[in-house]
Amino acid sequence: MTDKIKVAILGATGMIGQRFVQLLEDHPYFEFGGFYASERSEGKTLGEVLKIRDHRFKEETLEMKIELLETERVAASSRVAFSGLPSDTAKDIESELARTGLAVFSNAGAHRMSPDVPLLIPEVNAEHIEAVKGQTSFDNGGFIVTNANCSTTGIALPLKALHEAYGLDLVTVSTYQALSGAGYPGVPSMDILGNVIPYIGGEEEKMETEIKKMLGKWNGGFEFADFSMFANCARVPVLDGHLESMVLKFRETPDSDELIRTLESFRGLPGEFRLPTAPIHPLIVRKERDRPQPALDAFAGDPERARGMAVTVGRVRRSGDYFKMFCLSHNTLRGGAGGSVLNAELAKVKGLI
Ligand SMILES: NC(=O)c1ccc[n+]([C@@H]2O[C@H](COP(=O)([O-])OP(=O)(O)OC[C@H]3O[C@@H](n4cnc5c(N)ncnc54)[C@H](OP(=O)(O)O)[C@@H]3O)[C@@H](O)[C@H]2O)c1
Repeated sequence: MTDKIKVAILGATGMIGQRFVQLLEDHPYFEFGGFYASERSEGKTLGEVLKIRDHRFKEETLEMKIELLETERVAASSRVAFSGLPSDTAKDIESELARTGLAVFSNAGAHRMSPDVPLLIPEVNAEHIEAVKGQTSFDNGGFIVTNANCSTTGIALPLKALHEAYGLDLVTVSTYQALSGAGYPGVPSMDILGNVIPYIGGEEEKMETEIKKMLGKWNGGFEFADFSMFANCARVPVLDGHLESMVLKFRETPDSDELIRTLESFRGLPGEFRLPTAPIHPLIVRKERDRPQPALDAFAGDPERARGMAVTVGRVRRSGDYFKMFCLSHNTLRGGAGGSVLNAELAKVKGLI
């Protein structure tokens, strides 16, 4: 008999769903209640639909069967649901699961901007988790917590550190986004090999709004942060890891050494709470002139459970009143499933589940 909390993986055949499975194998707080997807996958074992190639899953995990996603079935198996569903599918299913009393930690976009749903990164805005107490399902034990779109998550950590210290005035960001960010099987190979596609539907709009909710305040309602933000998003032929270039202007301009020290000393709450999936250093600043790179830095993060959870910043330069830099994060780990797992760990230590 174990006192671990049973969790359901929604979308267990997808890129995010299988990162959930990876991160939740042998988790100290959670254990699998069931894997769920559409009728296309019903009855198949995880091993038969495996997409993740850089993790060795346990045999007993690979033998688990995918079940048809029906809310009653999920509610009967689990207290918590981790959602890697497409946004349109997630909308009603996640609401229904919360009403049934489940804590839902979602990667989908459907509920991110709702006025009572936190868009949470524990290092950035842990206090926003209080918003779940205002959700109508909360009396029943159910609630929804979301994490941001993968490209927004990557910049949110350095921007939090810098906004707190100097006040952001202007953020311009250009992204070089990995293929795994488009889900499986993603962009057709004939379209992306040897190519860059300067369009990702809805991504720029999401970045420009989500960041202001996350860097804003929770005062019984969300007060959005006030700065100018411009995003350009492109898909590049890289498997994992979103690289993003930023040009920033602050209300108070620091010198370069001070700004780098601010990034390096950033910690946030998860370290204090010793959340299992929290990296010891959530921000890593590289000094080499050709870092960060997806091939070298996507899996940054210690200890082993937090591999892929650190954001790497590099090429920090001052140019007049502006600062230029690159940052890189693993889009399906820190920017996806890992973000939700960290949120659930925070909810657990806060006594919400
Ligand atoms: N990839 C990233 O880097 C990333 C990062 C942050 C957030 N997100 C968000 O996370 C979500 C999942 O993304 P992904 O990249 O993992 O997508 P994906 O690889 O396309 O996986 C989608 C999953 O949803 C399941 N599904 C689809 N329709 C369903 C239905 N009607 N009923 C039950 N299950 C259904 C699929 O099951 P079948 O195989 O049975 O069809 C599959 O398991 C999306 O909302 C995405 O925007 C993705």
